[in-house]
Amino acid sequence: MNQDEMKQAAAEAAIQHVEDDTIVGVGTGSTVNFFIDALARIKGRIEGAVSSSQASTERMRALGIRVLDLNEAGPLPLYVDGADETNAHRQLIKGGGGALTREKIVAAASEKFVCVVDASKKVGVLGEFPLPLEVIPMARSYVAREVAKLGARPVLRSGFVTDNGNDILDLHGLSIVNPPELEERINQIVGVVCCGLFAQRPADEVIMATPDGLQVF
Ligand code: 5RP
Repeated sequence: MNQDEMKQAAAEAAIQHVEDDTIVGVGTGSTVNFFIDALARIKGRIEGAVSSSQASTERMRALGIRVLDLNEAGPLPLYVDGADETNAHRQLIKGGGGALTREKIVAAASEKFVCVVDASKKVGVLGEFPLPLEVIPMARSYVAREVAKLGARPVLRSGFVTDNGNDILDLHGLSIVNPPELEERINQIVGVVCCGLFAQRPADEVIMATPDGLQVF
């Protein structure tokens, strides 16, 4: 299996979690795109979806999936999303696609968060993938100085604006031994809209596709 085939296998396995007549929370990225394609095949069985990005909204609408506003949908039974890294505790780095804030909101509003990844995403210690932060543009230099004090090397994602009109700082050089604590510290920096660590609310289940088949943890 190549990497795309593994992403597809994990995404299609997550369809088993979708219950009839429910509204499904949908993440963002190339793995989730396979989930959206699978969801389109059963779109008649669900009420609709809540999207975490403009990109996923456009893909779902193009496939005829009804997209609802989170404020109209209420609590969701299920959120399915990918990740840039996961550790064995299902704590994640997300935001490679820049959709971390809406992803974190939809995850928070969902009873169950199922994360779909290929085997390349599993790490012992989070941080090899640069940790994305969404920041208010006028605060980006201040936030960069504050995160440098935590040992990070912040790099502005150039030419990129989030769906919320903000900037992304990618934090290089971190070895994140206590993800919930770092998430808490970064959340307290004024000007940070969202930290791409999903550790205080980790995934409830990770479906990881490997060359030898699916692993669930
Ligand atoms: C987007 C994300 C994605 O879930 C993450 O970047 C993984 O993407 P892919 O499935 O393309 O590898 O957090 O903000």
